[in-house]
Amino acid sequence: TEAPLILGIESSCDETAVALVRGHDIVAQRVASQDDAHRIYGGVVPEIAARAHVEALEPMIAAVLAEAGIGLDDVDAIAATAGPGLIGGVMVGLVTGKALALAAGKPLVAVNHLEGHALSPRLVDANLQFPYLLLLVSGGHCQLLKVEGVGRYRRLATTIDDAVGEAFDKVAKIMGLGFPGGPAVERTARGGDPKAFKLPRPLAGTGEPHFSFAGLKTAVLRTFQANPDRKADIAASFQAAVVDCLIDRTRRALDAAPDVTALVVAGGVAANGAIRAALTELAGSRGLPFVAPPGWLCTDNAAMIAWAGAERMAAGDTDGLDAPARPRWPL
Ligand code: KG4
Ligand code: ZN
Repeated sequence: TEAPLILGIESSCDETAVALVRGHDIVAQRVASQDDAHRIYGGVVPEIAARAHVEALEPMIAAVLAEAGIGLDDVDAIAATAGPGLIGGVMVGLVTGKALALAAGKPLVAVNHLEGHALSPRLVDANLQFPYLLLLVSGGHCQLLKVEGVGRYRRLATTIDDAVGEAFDKVAKIMGLGFPGGPAVERTARGGDPKAFKLPRPLAGTGEPHFSFAGLKTAVLRTFQANPDRKADIAASFQAAVVDCLIDRTRRALDAAPDVTALVVAGGVAANGAIRAALTELAGSRGLPFVAPPGWLCTDNAAMIAWAGAERMAAGDTDGLDAPARPRWPL
């Protein structure tokens, strides 16, 4: 029998996204970035984000249905992000999903955004088996998760202060490199020497499983104040410090979870080439496959939400129209 056709909706941060997914097939999808609306503020403004989701969402849903040449009645279920994230935006997407589910008489799956990231590698890699170790690195999160099955996530590490993407964004802001910060820092680092400045590697080498980036960010601020004309060297040295921290913590997690079948990375920061290269090497040294979804699937999108919805539905797990929007929702 044919896999169900799922309409996915994502609106938890500053990307409005809609996708139609059937099995491993992405039938149609749209992602609208709000970068231009937030750029002058140097960061995401929640109220502006929520209003932009309201404007963008309905035409995008119409557009993916039109591209697929179908109507709402042909969709088998609606999957919408219900958190965690900026609550105004989450409510826009979730309420829209509820309205569609009610109007079409189809089931709703209220998806945890982190579960979307965690399961997304299975959308593009049909061979990826549980359990796998996931390094989830985004603007809001920095976690190591042992993904044991759908709905079964063991958190091995999290950040005690900033998320790693947040650190990239703040470093970009300190040096005036532009927004969003991650790609700008990576671009700037290409022209610099990663050994130019000795920056701290917070928590590296410790028995403590977690991440920390606040001290590194502060060290970058001091270094830049003393060397304002060395942006490329500072960006490269910062990126090298981040890589060392991520690798040290991931190595530790692999020691603690020796039964995993693969090392997987997801989240917006997974687009970073230096981080990918270092993780590839680490996985290779352990004889594990390294799975990194393509860039568009690493950053926020609705295909991963539709896919997580499909996995949850296959497990017999759907939600009522009373599903709450949750600003905080640990996996
Ligand atoms: O997953 P995502 O799109 O949104 C969240 O759920 O947070 O991740 C966005 C984050 C931002 O902090 C952005 O600066 C960072 O991912 N990012 C990068 C790169 N591309 C995006 N960080 C480092 N290097 C990159 N190439
Ligand atoms: Zn995300």
